[in-house]
Amino acid sequence: MNTFIIDGGKPLVGDVTIAGAKNVALKILTASLLTSEHIVIHNVPHIADVTRMIDLLKTLGVKCSMEGHTVSIGGSDVNQFTVPLDVGARLRTSSMVLAPLLARFGKAIIPNPGGCRLGARPIDRHIDGLIHMGATIAYDHADGFFHATANGLYGTEYTFEKNTHTGTETLLLAAVLAKGTTTLKNAAEEVEIDDLIRFLNTLGAKIKRTNVREITVIGVGGLHGGEYTIMPDRNEEVTFVCAAAVTRGSITVHNSRREYIKDFLEEFRRSGGEVLEIGEAITRYQCLHGLNASFVTTAIYPGFMTDWQAPWAVAMTQANGISTIHETVFESRFSYVSELKKMGAQIDFFDPEVKNPETFYNFNWSDRIEGYHQGIKIKGPTELHNAVLEIDDLRAGATLVLAALAAEGESYVHGAEQMDRGYEHIEERFRGLGATMKRIQE
Ligand code: EPU
Repeated sequence: MNTFIIDGGKPLVGDVTIAGAKNVALKILTASLLTSEHIVIHNVPHIADVTRMIDLLKTLGVKCSMEGHTVSIGGSDVNQFTVPLDVGARLRTSSMVLAPLLARFGKAIIPNPGGCRLGARPIDRHIDGLIHMGATIAYDHADGFFHATANGLYGTEYTFEKNTHTGTETLLLAAVLAKGTTTLKNAAEEVEIDDLIRFLNTLGAKIKRTNVREITVIGVGGLHGGEYTIMPDRNEEVTFVCAAAVTRGSITVHNSRREYIKDFLEEFRRSGGEVLEIGEAITRYQCLHGLNASFVTTAIYPGFMTDWQAPWAVAMTQANGISTIHETVFESRFSYVSELKKMGAQIDFFDPEVKNPETFYNFNWSDRIEGYHQGIKIKGPTELHNAVLEIDDLRAGATLVLAALAAEGESYVHGAEQMDRGYEHIEERFRGLGATMKRIQE
């Protein structure tokens, strides 16, 4: 296990550059299975999830290598159609290979996906959509694998029952080579999906957003190779804004994309944070005078993303008054609360009043675990003190690191490798902003 040792209590000040988006890199790597031709991808982040995805492609027979931030794929084609349990269980996006494997080879066997355990987190919407396109998919409880076959995939009109980010991407990957036209309705609108669409169109796919929450894909006979540069990671940008907020620092972000985090910045400004537009892709975030309480409800695009609530919660421990966060996308995404309480944070769970929870929440209401709460109240400002902390998911990990950076004294944050899944060289980048932070291996 890796542990961060952080001596906090100092404002973070300086410059940082945002890396390529994890949630695009993983999908583009998956999408590369749609062709045997050569693909070059730039601005790929050096994170553990990318390494795992590259390992997965190699397991399937695909040649793939990474040099600097460029990944090169090609020179050999898929020759395996089963994702081994140990590879798949470590990576949620492993389930997405179902679509390209079915589209090109008509068979795939994948284990139940891994990744962050954020409540039940099933893939029923992906499976249902693929079945509508002609696949036969059965989950075998005995071996824990989905067994899928298809005698060709066929264009269809499919309406998602509820929003799903990777479910929309899975069906896009299935539709690109399907026979005929596919129209996806109630499709997700997250900006990472548009980057994937741009990549696929670069290879010869015919995909268009044709209406609000509607995507039309005209199936093509095959894709050629190509070269593509991945967009910056907006979740990373938000993490650094929260770092400025919680330490009362001033952080200048390069590769900034303010337009991708509009809702977050509105909240940041409303709470008293400053957003200084230094250039088109350079933004200085600072919070020199403290913050005011805020009331946040997470939402699908273009709302306040679920990935932002955990780092925002730690910022709110420093805000004047009582803040609330209502999580509506995932159930059980408050694993960081007990850890923040160890540092003196005053946080209580509550049950927000919701008239029709079955339709209101993005997760399947029937999957929820009795006793889980969807809301927290944070009373601030509280002086956080050092503690020994345990990371259990990626964004919660970022939250605990931010809390330790804000707290006076030396904190131990166990489970640093969880953060490596999604943040490139995080301790070096925080050190560049003046943090005292090191990693030890236990
Ligand atoms: N859901 C189902 N059935 C499905 C699909 C989703 O019940 O078939 C539920 C989920 O359990 C969740 C909700 O619907 O409660 C929304 O799930 P969605 O499919 O939209 O999320 P995801 O695709 O699993 C992606 C990102 C997440 C990000 C969400 C929201 C990737 C690899 N993951 O997850 O990112 O929070 O969309 O935008 O793209 C992260 O980066 O740390 C992360 C968790």
